Amino acid sequence: MVKNILITGGAGYIGSHIAEILIKKNKKVFLIDNLSTGHRQLINKKAKFFKLDIHYKNKVKNIIEKYQIDSIIHLAANLIIGEGQKKPKKYFKNNVLGTQKLLNACKNTTVKNFIFSSSAAIYKEGQYIVSEKSIIKPKSIYGKTKIKAEILIKNFAKKNKINYGILRYFNIAGSSPSGKIGLINENSDHLFKNFSIEIMKKKPKLKIYGINYKTKDGSCIRDFIHVSDIADIHYLVLNKINKLNISKILNCGYNKGSSVLQVAKEFRRQSPKKVDIIYTERRNNDLIKIIASNNKLKKFVKWSPKFNNLSKIVKSCIAWEKKIKLNEKL
Ligand SMILES: NC(=O)c1ccc[n+]([C@@H]2O[C@H](COP(=O)([O-])OP(=O)(O)OC[C@H]3O[C@@H](n4cnc5c(N)ncnc54)[C@H](O)[C@@H]3O)[C@@H](O)[C@H]2O)c1
Repeated sequence: MVKNILITGGAGYIGSHIAEILIKKNKKVFLIDNLSTGHRQLINKKAKFFKLDIHYKNKVKNIIEKYQIDSIIHLAANLIIGEGQKKPKKYFKNNVLGTQKLLNACKNTTVKNFIFSSSAAIYKEGQYIVSEKSIIKPKSIYGKTKIKAEILIKNFAKKNKINYGILRYFNIAGSSPSGKIGLINENSDHLFKNFSIEIMKKKPKLKIYGINYKTKDGSCIRDFIHVSDIADIHYLVLNKINKLNISKILNCGYNKGSSVLQVAKEFRRQSPKKVDIIYTERRNNDLIKIIASNNKLKKFVKWSPKFNNLSKIVKSCIAWEKKIKLNEKL
């Protein structure tokens, strides 16, 4: 049974949701985060937190040894596609070298399982519904760093006889039903966050980048998956790879696409104000449409998504944004 779990990037958006679920399942949770994009407010009070950069190999190793860590969930990374294009070195250093350092820290320790947050951004453009066997050809620097990190993990795991779970997330959205955590970072360049911020304004304007793509309504299509559903996947996959002593690469999505315009319309529907939807130019490096085939995931674990519904996801984003705004006023 897995017992002591270390989450890198545990003060971030997804990491805090994973911590919340693991703690509910009575696991001992340890968090490492340099707070570069993470927030103290998201740190679970029942977890042990270390303000630390994953590049400090010896310090990370000390934590692993002291607390007999059996499993690592590695989320610490930089993830803004546009920023990655402008600052490739920063992205390679953090996402690739950072992963290498972390792996080195796990060498000859109690670590038996390693879960990694990869991304749909590694897949080649134009394949639409992608399985784990689809062609890999990242368009962005960010995607390139993720596939390089995957390779490092696979090689390390083989040599050092540990199990890995590489989880290729599609687009994460929403906030925890507990109301305690959600996406804070305003610079995340995250569609649902941008819309949530906008919807709080007096005259909301929801911006859509590109409306002349070859899709059903001209906007890009994504497989948006609720953050609590993705957090559940971590718990299930970690238990299973540990129990069976095997490794897996799994797409994490709903096998369902929603267009950006659909999302904007749902925000407009749930807002009592007049909301304008504005169309602007396409952005470079946006994939046109991509959806996860989640057959492999569903075969591997018994996962039933609880929030597979655009209206529920948008509702949870708006509720969280209202809470943030309220806290700012207090
Ligand atoms: N949000 C998405 O839609 C999405 C999609 C696919 C994959 N992912 C992956 O999920 C992971 C988590 O993303 P998120 O959305 O929670 O972002 P986030 O920015 O909220 O979380 C990342 C966390 O890692 C920390 N961090 C970054 N570099 C670090 C370092 N060198 N040492 C220690 N801590 C460091 C940050 O402070 C932050 O708390 C990332 O690896 C990301 O690539 C996210």
